[in-house]
Amino acid sequence: MTRHFLSLADWTGEELGGILDLAADLKNKQQQGEPHPLLAGKTLGMLFEKSSTRTRVSFEVGLTQLGGHAIFLSPRDTQIGRGEPIKDTARVLSRYVDAVMVRTFAQETVEELANWSTIPIINGLTDLLHPCQLMADLLTVKERFGKVEGLKAAWVGDGNNMANSWINAAAAFGFKLALACPGGYNPDEKILEDARNSGADILLTEDPREAVESADVVTTDVWASMGQEEEQAKREADFQGFMVDEGLMNLSAEHSIFLHCLPAHRGEEVSEGVLEGPHSVVWDQAENRLHAQKAILATLLT
Ligand code: CP
Ligand code: NVA
Repeated sequence: MTRHFLSLADWTGEELGGILDLAADLKNKQQQGEPHPLLAGKTLGMLFEKSSTRTRVSFEVGLTQLGGHAIFLSPRDTQIGRGEPIKDTARVLSRYVDAVMVRTFAQETVEELANWSTIPIINGLTDLLHPCQLMADLLTVKERFGKVEGLKAAWVGDGNNMANSWINAAAAFGFKLALACPGGYNPDEKILEDARNSGADILLTEDPREAVESADVVTTDVWASMGQEEEQAKREADFQGFMVDEGLMNLSAEHSIFLHCLPAHRGEEVSEGVLEGPHSVVWDQAENRLHAQKAILATLLT
């Protein structure tokens, strides 16, 4: 059966841990200049219905380093933009490429693509989830702390695709997660309920200070995600008090790290001082997109 990477919830903690180990191994090989053409001759289709810097470049470079090739596809210059159905696109792409990475709006779109494909589909971000980003985030956490299990992570801000993915990660890996979201901006109810039912230790509060208290990892994301641009002004008002600044970081553990998937809005969800400060590992985190995704691709295609 074809395996897809649509949500962390579809994979066990053990499987995801294996992908992180492979990512660390591939990172080491790349840093040593050791060739690792695990996907020689393979082609990835990359379908972007939203903007991207990191996801696009890291997948394309990742495939090149693995000996394969990636093709950028957008609705503007494919038949998708002219209304060709997803199920037709899925069956045609399955005849050409070895896997498809898709960034789109509805989670249902990636699921439909997967349902009609005979090749692995990778979720490169939807309104609901951003699983590839979480693999890079967890790789970064593991590099710093040697483990993920047993740590406390704090999410401050919108209950968005990143927050939902952190919830899935907490369930898979067994770390404590505290989310502080303003009223009305909670994460997905079902994802939270499923995670809690599987035994995950998750606190949801409206108080960023409570969430960040003694946390090993502090993370946030933009207040208005892609597709929510017209809500920017309302969200700026609703998210007052939710900026991760030096005062808030001071409540976290002394050794804590700050993560942000980027792009960041300085002076909104994070202060310049925190983003550029001593706790911040956001550039390592961004680099780790490359290594984590190479491991995801290698796992799905070998
Ligand atoms: N973090 C992330 O997914 O960045 P891009 O939108 O640049 O791909
Ligand atoms: N929540 C953000 C993440 C960007 C990588 C968005 O969806 O726009």
